[in-house]
Amino acid sequence: MFARMGKRELERLGQLADEIEVGMDEVLAEQGRVGHEFFIVLDGHVSVLDGRRPVAQLHPGDFFGEIALLDGRPRTASVRADGITRLLVVGHREFHALMDEFPAVRDLVLAELAERLRRVEGG
Ligand code: CMP
Repeated sequence: MFARMGKRELERLGQLADEIEVGMDEVLAEQGRVGHEFFIVLDGHVSVLDGRRPVAQLHPGDFFGEIALLDGRPRTASVRADGITRLLVVGHREFHALMDEFPAVRDLVLAELAERLRRVEGG
């Protein structure tokens, strides 16, 4: 995500986000629950789980949690830290502010969403 963001976008992200560190097996998003945050992995990795089935592993620079913030509905999957992981957390309002201010950020979130849909559908 960072590689595709410009300097101004990155600076704004720095203002809007908080950095957190979580331990092994910590759950960052819980399938079926309301979600209020968007996350970007800085260091370490996390697993995306549909029930108990792993569907993806996300690495530094990858993001998750956008779906519940975009449609206001429950989390589509659970996301769990695979070890000590550092992340940026962006609140609901800040996520929308970032996308409103920078259409290029909205485009890259949407492009990744499309990419994930293609992968799920085997296309
Ligand atoms: P959200 O539904 O808010 O919370 C769980 C997140 O996991 C979801 O947003 C996506 O960011 C991510 N996610 C869900 N399904 C997949 C998938 N198949 N591949 C990668 N990431 C996913």
